[in-house]
Amino acid sequence: MDKLIIEGGVKLKGEVTVSGAKNAVLPILAATLLTDDTCIIKGVPNLRDTNTMLKILRSLGKNAELDKGIIRVEAGKFTNFIADYKLVSTMRASFCVLGPLLGKLKKAKVSLPGGCVIGVRPVDLHIKGLKALGTDISIEGGYVVAKATNLKGAHMYLGGAYGSSVLATDNVMMAAVLAKGKTVIESAACEPEVTNLADFLIKMGAKIKGHGTPIIEIEGVKHLHGAEHGIIPDRIEAGTLMIASLITHGDILIKNVFAAHQGAVIDKLEEAGAKVIKTDSSLRLRSKGRLRPVNITTLPYPGFPTDMQAQMMSLMSVTLGISVITEKIYPDRFMHVSELDRMGARIQREGPHAIVEGVKELSGAPVMASDLRASAGLVLAGLAARGKTAISRIYHLERGYENIEEKLRNLGARIWREKE
Ligand code: EPZ
Repeated sequence: MDKLIIEGGVKLKGEVTVSGAKNAVLPILAATLLTDDTCIIKGVPNLRDTNTMLKILRSLGKNAELDKGIIRVEAGKFTNFIADYKLVSTMRASFCVLGPLLGKLKKAKVSLPGGCVIGVRPVDLHIKGLKALGTDISIEGGYVVAKATNLKGAHMYLGGAYGSSVLATDNVMMAAVLAKGKTVIESAACEPEVTNLADFLIKMGAKIKGHGTPIIEIEGVKHLHGAEHGIIPDRIEAGTLMIASLITHGDILIKNVFAAHQGAVIDKLEEAGAKVIKTDSSLRLRSKGRLRPVNITTLPYPGFPTDMQAQMMSLMSVTLGISVITEKIYPDRFMHVSELDRMGARIQREGPHAIVEGVKELSGAPVMASDLRASAGLVLAGLAARGKTAISRIYHLERGYENIEEKLRNLGARIWREKE
């Protein structure tokens, strides 16, 4: 395994282009199961997770290849309805093949994803929504076994204790598009990635209204045809790069980003004292001097994204003053705290809160990545720290950030790989 070495202290300057959104491409690839026609997906990031989803599609009988950012899913019928544990356990998002398998084949056997370091990751809302559509579901040997003689539209409430669910909304939507009659999803997730999926389904012939709002209405159709679609820019990668500019006191122009998807993050960074210059497809960020501490609470979109929590914590770790970070989506999503503390950060956990007392400077140290976004937080801390930081287990980072070392190196960062 490789580790990432970062020699901190360089002010990052220049231009960088954001890749396509991991969390958009995964459900959109799953949606290609809803048709026997060819589908072309453009703007696809070459990530570990993208390749895992391609393996899952192939294991189900689909012929799909990624070449220079374009995925072509060949026309052809498929009959396998079993998504096996080996693949699903490596990537939780693969659970979103459940809805399209039910929509297309009216049966599915998908391994339960299991938990991960950021939390238990239940699927009760997925099951509730699919049952509402008339699916018989049982849990057998670690698998969700589902069959639906006929899927019927239904009116359902899909909110849970932590608010709306992105992939549960996706799964239900992808089954409902081929159900008989009308489905209404209340407390639907509003994330831009859900909208990107709905737009693809509409191009395939689905009848969907209200996507991007908490109430989605779907009129079932008999058949969906192939379509061509583009993946939206990755708003979490963009947010991570925004913080890279600020934490190094640099000046980065970030291209291929929709400012409209960044409302909560831009609001907090401006509150902290950042200068943010927006155009319709780029953001330029620099700090106007010392940043101020801000308090963050993660919420479903359009609230502050939980996937930006670790990155924001790194920034607050070197912002003098006290900031309180409250994690309302995954209350245990604090694996990065102990690693940042190894670098000299002063962070105290109190249940779903982390109290950060900013220090003047972090010092480089050997640290360990635990999940995708924690790894991003550690990279940001390493860019700001005095001396060398060595981040191990960087396969976590490779899941969701395309060519991140090259992008940072082109901005002046001293960053390279070494064998563990
Ligand atoms: C998506 O996961 C993202 N992954 C996550 O990004 C992201 O953190 C999360 O949404 C929240 O924004 C993909 O899109 C592939 P949820 P998802 O269902 O859909 C609870 C990353 O780093 N819940 O919206 O699995 C759940 O425990 C990843 O890119 C239930 O209680 O998340 C959580 O507390 C990490 N029951 C909250 O809802 C359910 O049936 C939101 O989870 C489902 C979820």
